[in-house]
Amino acid sequence: MLQLKNNFIFAPIKLGYSDKTGVVKQKHIDFYKRVSEYLGAVIPEPFYMDKALRELPTQMGIDSDDKILGLQKLTSKIHESNTKVIAHLNHPGRMANPKIPGNIFLSSTDKPCENGGAIPERITRQEMQNIISLFVKSAIRAQKTNFDIIELQFGHGYLIAQFISPKVNDRTDEYGGNFENRIKFPLQILDAVKSAVDLPIIIRISGDEIIPDGIKLPEMIKLSGILKEKSVEAIHVSAGTVCNTPPWFFQHMFVPKGKTWEFAKKIKEHAKIHTIFVGQINTREDIEELTNKFNADYIAIGRALIADTDFIGKCLNKVAGNIRPCLACAEGCLGGVKSGQGLQCLVNPQIGKEIDIFNVAENSKNYAVVGGGLAGMEAALTLKKRGHNVDLYEKNELGGQFNLAPLTHKR
Ligand SMILES: Cc1cc2nc3c(=O)[nH]c(=O)nc-3n(C[C@H](O)[C@H](O)[C@H](O)COP(=O)(O)O)c2cc1C
Repeated sequence: MLQLKNNFIFAPIKLGYSDKTGVVKQKHIDFYKRVSEYLGAVIPEPFYMDKALRELPTQMGIDSDDKILGLQKLTSKIHESNTKVIAHLNHPGRMANPKIPGNIFLSSTDKPCENGGAIPERITRQEMQNIISLFVKSAIRAQKTNFDIIELQFGHGYLIAQFISPKVNDRTDEYGGNFENRIKFPLQILDAVKSAVDLPIIIRISGDEIIPDGIKLPEMIKLSGILKEKSVEAIHVSAGTVCNTPPWFFQHMFVPKGKTWEFAKKIKEHAKIHTIFVGQINTREDIEELTNKFNADYIAIGRALIADTDFIGKCLNKVAGNIRPCLACAEGCLGGVKSGQGLQCLVNPQIGKEIDIFNVAENSKNYAVVGGGLAGMEAALTLKKRGHNVDLYEKNELGGQFNLAPLTHKR
């Protein structure tokens, strides 16, 4: 079992808060400090392992020694809360961002993703060796910068999944065809990382890619059993692929809650390995159900901790107040990342702000807020919390157009 203060983990979520150099910024440190306090571990956003393998122009890198200082600052800040830090290493393969100049696109196939993207080059043996070496160098850098655990991305339609998936891998050599061949390169990467560092390793997979002929649960149970034999500490069970089924990858509200939990449960039962449950875990009841009914070893949470950074603190009764619920809409978070502005949240205005808007202001001022709709009331409250004098003016009723919302139910 991983040595964590509790079994809650922040899931890997791209933030897009860096610049084109890929270094850690103060904004990363503030964000992860804020979400980490009540968690056993945090997985910061996936690191790029080479500048030519970026998913975002503003992604953090672990590709060279100029990143060391920033990464050390990040891990030491998170360690202040006695929270462990997990380095998530991923090669995007054909899913590298085609809009980033200089990116390269390698895969088990020479066919592009059906939903768009660059035409990839089929990887040669030499390139496979280079990729193994990239994983090893990145893992060593993670150990050097005081990460506690390594997570390898085997799922979500990225390079390693492009090898595992029978739908994508169309090689005719010993790395394509049957299951044993398709998992050969992924296992070579794991073996190389394992012998290069002295850190526990966890593996993220898609329990099912939710596409015909794609990765399916029975093969993932088989793979998990093999990973257990190789002393992998836990399997982090998500679903979908960034190529064909992004709503499953991002667990959009239209996707049924609990399907990924079923995958994790089956893997736990059949492969007898610890599993990390993830996907739309955003209420107290979800946590209770996963703990009591699913006997979850670990619970990873993404957006609910963005919507309310005290979500787990409140579930553990360490922080008072109601939970501000995540809508699982992906509008502010994914929308912000895709727009280039960086991660935000539709229901949490603090996310993505350079300053803590709830810090008390240095100079108290007098404010008049005109209009008592939801936005006006929130602005007035925030100003008050920051120590200002506030007058709120409303001609009619407080609540504004929100007062009309219940009427829609009467029709
Ligand atoms: C904006 C955004 C970016 C994400 N980026 C990644 C990623 O790069 N790699 C990854 O494995 N998962 C990524 N995820 C998926 C999350 O790790 C998680 O599995 C998903 O959000 C479901 O958990 P949740 O419902 O608790 O948010 C991302 C999710 C969101 C919303």
